[in-house]
Amino acid sequence: MTRSIRPLVAGNWKMNGLQSVLAEFDLMGAGNDVCIRRSVDLMICPPATLISALAHAAIGQGIAIGAQDCHSKDNGAHTGDISAQMLADAGASAVIVGHSERRADHGETDASVRLKAEAAYRNGLMAIICVGETRAERVAGKTLAVVRRQLKGSVPDGMTARDIVIAYEPVWAIGTGLTPTAKDVEEVHALIRADLKKIVGKDEAQKVRILYGGSVKPSNARELMSVANVDGALVGGASLKAEDFLGIAAAFH
Ligand code: 13P
Repeated sequence: MTRSIRPLVAGNWKMNGLQSVLAEFDLMGAGNDVCIRRSVDLMICPPATLISALAHAAIGQGIAIGAQDCHSKDNGAHTGDISAQMLADAGASAVIVGHSERRADHGETDASVRLKAEAAYRNGLMAIICVGETRAERVAGKTLAVVRRQLKGSVPDGMTARDIVIAYEPVWAIGTGLTPTAKDVEEVHALIRADLKKIVGKDEAQKVRILYGGSVKPSNARELMSVANVDGALVGGASLKAEDFLGIAAAFH
C-alpha cells in the first residue's frame, strides 16, 4: 500500500534491560537494512539507565532513542524523577507519556500527561502520547468515549505532526496476546484522526502518526499495519528481541 505518512515502529522496553542488552541492540542496528530504512522509522525506548549508552550505540544505525516517561518540570526538588531536559541531554529524541501502566501504577491523569507532553515539547522531544480503554470500558461500550476524553485532555494545543505521535493501546491487549479486530482498530484510529483535527488543526492532523500498540508481533504486524490510519506500532515484549522487532518493521516493505 502507498502511505502518505512515514510510519514509525517504536519499541517500549518498559522495566527491562541491563547493560548486557547492548549486544541485542547492535543486532537491531545490523539488521536495519536498506529496505527497512527506506520504508519506516525505528525507535527504541529503553529504561532511563540505558538511554545514554544506547544513544551512543545508535549512531549511524538509523534507530532513534526515546524515553518512557518524564516529569512535567525541567528541574527541582523531585526525588527520583527525571525531566525531559535530562532525557534530551542523555541523547533521547522522544518520550512516551501517559502509558496505561503509568496511568494505572502512578495515578497519572489526562491533565498530568498533558503537562508532560508540554515539557517534552519545551525540550525538543517528540511526545508519544498513549490512550486506550480498559477491558471493562470496552465491555461497557465506552471505548470511543474514553479515547476521546483521553485525547482531549492529554494532547496540548498547537502541536505539529513533528511534536507528537499518538499511540492507541487498548489496555486489555497489552501483554496478553489479545488484539482487537482490524475493524475495531480502524474505528478507533479514524476517531483519533477526526478528533485531532479539532486539537491541532486539519492540516497537522492529517500528518500526525497514530500508532497501534498491544501484543504486536511479527505474525500479526502485517494485518494490523495495513489498517487505515495505522501509521506504525508501539511494541512492548516483541521489541526486546532484534529478530522480532525487525520482523515487525518488515511489515512495512
Ligand atoms: P506488548 O507489545 O508487550 O503487548 O506491550 C505493548 C505496550 O504496552 C507498548 O507500550
